[in-house]
Amino acid sequence: MTAGGAGERVLPEVEDTEALGHELAQQLSAGDLVILDGPLGAGKTALTRGIAAGLGVRGRVSSPTFIIAREHRAGTPGGPGLVHVDAYRLGGLDELDALDLDTDLEDCVVVVEWGEGVAERLTDRHLVVRLRRAEGTDVRTATWEWSAPQE
Ligand SMILES: Nc1ncnc2c1ncn2[C@@H]1O[C@H](COP(=O)(O)OP(=O)(O)OP(=O)(O)O)[C@@H](O)[C@H]1O
Ligand SMILES: [Mg+2]
Repeated sequence: MTAGGAGERVLPEVEDTEALGHELAQQLSAGDLVILDGPLGAGKTALTRGIAAGLGVRGRVSSPTFIIAREHRAGTPGGPGLVHVDAYRLGGLDELDALDLDTDLEDCVVVVEWGEGVAERLTDRHLVVRLRRAEGTDVRTATWEWSAPQE
């Protein structure tokens, strides 16, 4: 994975949000953490759908509302899987450990909705994507940045 990808984009339609996820997936590899921040309905799950498509993992991405975390297996041998977590439901990272996922997190890209303030401790570096929704319209704005590498 290459660092340095940061940016901002206006997302008029849900397809634009998915397309951004697809693009960001090109910066991601196994062991990476993505934190999605944004209010209800901002498009966090839509962005995750794009990331999943970009990574080529299996299974339909849906809101992990009732299950906390969903695992998507790699679509190609040796490729990364995807673990999609809803931190809104997660009391803390101990619980993520306690979920006892089948997959080793090191073999996956981990995407955490609502993860800011909770998930950073998982890895030294992570990609943060912030989604904002303009009042009374479908337009969203995304900003994203990799956390500064730790010394
Ligand atoms: N530009 C856009 N980007 C993303 N979603 C959009 C956009 N325009 C409309 N939508 C709609 O808004 C909804 C976004 O829902 P989504 O589940 O992705 O948000 P979320 O941030 O995951 O919400 P939650 O906080 O409930 O998990 C979808 O129904 C989607 O079709
Ligand atoms: Mg969601």
